[in-house]
Amino acid sequence: MSADVDINALQAQIEAQIQNINSSQALEEFRLKYLGRKGLVAQLTGTISGLAPQERGSFGQRVNALKEKLIAIIAEKQNALALSAVESMGGQVDIGMPGIAQELGRLHPLTQVIDEVCAIFSQMGFSVVEGPEVETEYNNFTGLNIPLEHPSRDVFDTFYLKSGDRPLVLGSRPKKFTQDPRPDTQHLLLRSHTSPMQVRVMQSRQPPLAVVVPGRVYRPDAVDASHSFMFHQIEGLMVDEGIRFSDLKGVLEVFAKAVFGQDIKMRFRPHFFPFTEPSAEVDISCIICNRGQKKHCSVCQDKGWLEILGSGMVHPNVFKQAGYNSKKYTGFAFGMGVERIAMLKYGIDDIRLFFENDLRFLKQF
Ligand code: PHE
Repeated sequence: MSADVDINALQAQIEAQIQNINSSQALEEFRLKYLGRKGLVAQLTGTISGLAPQERGSFGQRVNALKEKLIAIIAEKQNALALSAVESMGGQVDIGMPGIAQELGRLHPLTQVIDEVCAIFSQMGFSVVEGPEVETEYNNFTGLNIPLEHPSRDVFDTFYLKSGDRPLVLGSRPKKFTQDPRPDTQHLLLRSHTSPMQVRVMQSRQPPLAVVVPGRVYRPDAVDASHSFMFHQIEGLMVDEGIRFSDLKGVLEVFAKAVFGQDIKMRFRPHFFPFTEPSAEVDISCIICNRGQKKHCSVCQDKGWLEILGSGMVHPNVFKQAGYNSKKYTGFAFGMGVERIAMLKYGIDDIRLFFENDLRFLKQF
């Protein structure tokens, strides 16, 4: 094929061919023959580079014109076929009848907040990973330096699942283990926080690493305006040589300002978590009363501050259990409640609204 292909003749031929097409399948074959990846137009285009330079321009233009023409006549034929299909139904189809509108859904406000928060951390170099909601007792507790007698391991604070031939029902978990707890910590449970993903990530990756982990967590709490047996958290973990508490502060400040605005104030309150040392809870200035400027704030109970997350420097025991050199590496971790952030951001006063599936609520976001 070369520049002396008579494109006009070709076009006449093609137009004659399409006259005879009377099924959409045949039309599709026709389309592939001419416009497909290995079709005529693609073949012609492929010959352009082999032409003498002065011929390329005009030949290319003619090929393009042919392509445009093909697209147009195929569309025309498609319409004609559709119309005759309707006609052949003998007027049984009322093409003037209004269609059934498909309502476009939208993202749940919690999903929106998760996406927003993850995007902020992604920009700072964190990767987003997810993990299972059914966890081992080891990952949820033991690997995080949470001792066997810790109250959070109690059946009143964790949903245990049946495990093997030893069903774990309320109160059946042995109170104390004197030996290595590992074999007994393979029981399954619904994770009570996203922190077990710290264990999983450290078991499968080497530093340097920075991850955020959004996901559902479960606790046997009675449901009320501020408690739910299922809620969401976003975990953060960064490990490398020389990571300091100031890195944690800097990262969380960028996050809080991005979500709540540049004027937001933050404070770190000393706290205790078994898996971080030192540990801190982080408060933001109450965005409802603007730090005590309004009298009687029901959201912060006039404290002017709202707790949004727990954080700290990864405990050396957590590193050791994960097989990391705790002399070489340091890191920070944090865990925030997504519902809490969403409630503050949008001024929502009842956590149950997120889960009732009431469109009047959901449509506002
Ligand atoms: N897992 C803790 C909680 O659910 C939060 C936390 C995460 C604290 C990471 C410190 C470090 O309360």
